[in-house]
Amino acid sequence: MRPDPDCRLCGLWEGRTKIVLPSGDPDSRVALVGEAPGATEDAEGVPFVGRSGKRLTRILAEAGVDRDDLLITNTVKCRPPGNRDPKQSEMSACRVFLEGELSSCEVVVGLGRSACRDILGYPVNMSEVANRDLRITIGGRDVVFIPTFHPAACVYGKAAQEGLRITAERIARELKP
Ligand code: URA
Repeated sequence: MRPDPDCRLCGLWEGRTKIVLPSGDPDSRVALVGEAPGATEDAEGVPFVGRSGKRLTRILAEAGVDRDDLLITNTVKCRPPGNRDPKQSEMSACRVFLEGELSSCEVVVGLGRSACRDILGYPVNMSEVANRDLRITIGGRDVVFIPTFHPAACVYGKAAQEGLRITAERIARELKP
């Protein structure tokens, strides 16, 4: 199920330009889930195409992964004002769409604390859980969930850069035929 073009299930509709639907391969066994579109994504209607997106695309490419071979999406499909974190109520309203998007995935990678908190239902300390496999149920299906750093966190330190590089290499292995 996709959001109606005039979706008003939460208040984020008021500030959005475009609803940002997933990009990449909708049938991929691997999905990347970020927190919310930023300004560039809001303008273009495509997830992870702004500064963080370019960093993510480069880190994936360095591990030999073409972003078009993954499903790339966000917990909410509309940009929160001023790029604030999405609220729990906004993520809950959008959850039905996320579950539909992930219906072919066996491996779900959560990018950053906000996405991981929404998907897991509890807050995590990223440096404790990054790149640890968790077995969870999403939309009634069992999947492997891998929490990792948001590409925006890479500007703050080497741990996030290295963490995301390890995740990209794992994704490369997951996509190997
Ligand atoms: N940050 C996200 O979490 N998602 C995007 O699509 C872009 C930036």
